Amino acid sequence: MLWKCFRCFAEDPQQEISVSKCRDYPWEIYSLKELLHATNNFHNDNKIGEGGFGSVYWGRTTKGVEIAVKRLKAMTAKAEMEFAVEVEILGRVRHKNLLGLRGFYAGGDERLIVYDFMPNHSLITHLHGQLAADCLLDWPRRMNIAVGSAEGLAYLHHEANPHIIHRDIKASNVILDSEFQAKVADFGFAKLIPDGVSHLTTRVKGTLGYLAPEYAMWGKVSESCDVYSFGILLLEIISAKKPLEKLPGGIKRDIVQWAKPYVQKGDFEHIADPRLKGKYDIIQLRKVVVIAMRCADGNPENRPSMLQVVEWLKDSVGRRTKRVQLVKDAASEEDDDDEGDGDITDYEGAEMEKSTKRMVRKETRMR
Ligand SMILES: Nc1ncnc2c1ncn2[C@@H]1O[C@H](COP(=O)(O)OP(=O)(O)OP(=O)(O)O)[C@@H](O)[C@H]1O
Ligand SMILES: [Mg+2]
Repeated sequence: MLWKCFRCFAEDPQQEISVSKCRDYPWEIYSLKELLHATNNFHNDNKIGEGGFGSVYWGRTTKGVEIAVKRLKAMTAKAEMEFAVEVEILGRVRHKNLLGLRGFYAGGDERLIVYDFMPNHSLITHLHGQLAADCLLDWPRRMNIAVGSAEGLAYLHHEANPHIIHRDIKASNVILDSEFQAKVADFGFAKLIPDGVSHLTTRVKGTLGYLAPEYAMWGKVSESCDVYSFGILLLEIISAKKPLEKLPGGIKRDIVQWAKPYVQKGDFEHIADPRLKGKYDIIQLRKVVVIAMRCADGNPENRPSMLQVVEWLKDSVGRRTKRVQLVKDAASEEDDDDEGDGDITDYEGAEMEKSTKRMVRKETRMR
């Protein structure tokens, strides 16, 4: 049934993947009765949130497992396509930083997707939503989320076969488990990239503020579009600024345009979320901002791969931690501060200049 609907709506027949492969993964086909019971008939009190695709409900299965059930809003061809892509793709990938699919139900007019329930909501709730005032995301948690989401994306780009471009990387699609580990969610817009194909041209989908210019303008989609969105997300994690803000007079400014003058002046403190109250490692901050700016370069050729980003992020966050320990052991080593990461400082200096000079950004637009 699902396979049939996926075949009907797939834009590109090369995207077809074998359902039998999915059997390697522990997802199941639920009955409607079970999901109705789990969510108390999709009671409003069970509703976690609502997106463009439909509403998400908390539930508990008869086995006592907490689940999140996404219920498709309307049975349009477009929605059914998104449902099929989401289930097909999530059903075949497993990674610690990707939201796990538990199963689905497809029958009549009802399309339901069942995920692992994530008790700490999405990143957007913490950065701009209901939990923003609680300030649960301190600097180490933010860096851990940045590394985790980068690893999830790197897996999609470089390890999944065929490679997967997510196309909707944003704060509401990064969900946090009980340990605040990042899980990348929402694969409804994802594209499978056959071997040897560098980019595809498609209808533009995604969210304003996160769209790479070449994708927004010409529908040119490649892994580097996700890298761009990740750069925006990284700046958002650091600053808690929204990707797009409306200035007085109705002019829109994106987060890169906002951050760029501070980067050029070397005023990195100004980019950090004021709610952190200065509790961050300034060297890490500087490095991570530079990585974000590299990712959000207007020219896709200047953007790093997600593998590179993971390496840089781990290096930036990890090395400093090591050095802090060393400093604890022998306070006199403070003077050697730059020695350990000479290579990364070199890359920063060189790349930051390259990146800020070349950053000819164009207005992004939607669909
Ligand atoms: N597995 C889950 N566990 C807990 N909360 C979840 C889960 N999946 C989604 N949510 C929450 O449900 C809400 C709605 O998610 P949904 O993906 O439908 O919309 P969105 O991401 O806000 O917007 P869009 O439709 O543009 O993706 C989000 O706030 C998200 O935090
Ligand atoms: Mg979402």
